[in-house]
Amino acid sequence: MSRIVVLIGSMRKGGNTDLLAHSFAEGASKKNIVEIVSVSDYNINPCIGCNSCFTREKNQCFQNDDMSAIYDKLRNADIVAVASPVYFYGISTQLKAIIDRLHTPMRNEFHIKELVLMLVGAATLPELFDSIKLQYQLILNFFHLEDRGMVLVRGVKDKGDILKTKALKEAYDLGVSIE
Ligand SMILES: Cc1cc2nc3c(=O)[nH]c(=O)nc-3n(C[C@H](O)[C@H](O)[C@H](O)COP(=O)(O)O)c2cc1C
Repeated sequence: MSRIVVLIGSMRKGGNTDLLAHSFAEGASKKNIVEIVSVSDYNINPCIGCNSCFTREKNQCFQNDDMSAIYDKLRNADIVAVASPVYFYGISTQLKAIIDRLHTPMRNEFHIKELVLMLVGAATLPELFDSIKLQYQLILNFFHLEDRGMVLVRGVKDKGDILKTKALKEAYDLGVSIE
């Protein structure tokens, strides 16, 4: 049994990322403790690069916003599943803000061992996810983490488009596969 935090990077409640991530969470909940963190429920400022987290207690950011609640959840996590819409070949701004704020605690405080990546985008281009996948791989390398699986969904634009694909089942099955 693992502790899994699912980070949902879309502000659109009930949108494609949200549905995909919840499907994964439902499967993963069979044998694990799963917590969902959606960017739509938190106000997170971007990192300002002051580096004061290097020397602060628990490497926590000095900024007094909702990030403290997310740090508390991630402190106990074994696996983090990241879900995002593709925005200009990158992840959403809101999700990137959270990830940037994790830099020092990820390295020094947390014991996360594995990541899951779930992405949705409107285009059907083969290269749609290339830049995010490269960034993901470099992050895995840097933090000595393992990839626990990916669900990458092309051709979904409007709310609910993902219901017409097999992706929700794929995400659910990936969740179930984690023990
Ligand atoms: C600002 C913005 C940028 C986007 N950039 C891309 C893109 O580069 N490639 C793509 O395929 N879709 C792009 N999209 C479409 C979304 O990825 C797509 O609609 C997705 O299904 C939205 O997920 P959601 O329902 O979880 O919000 C963009 C959407 C927005 C709002």
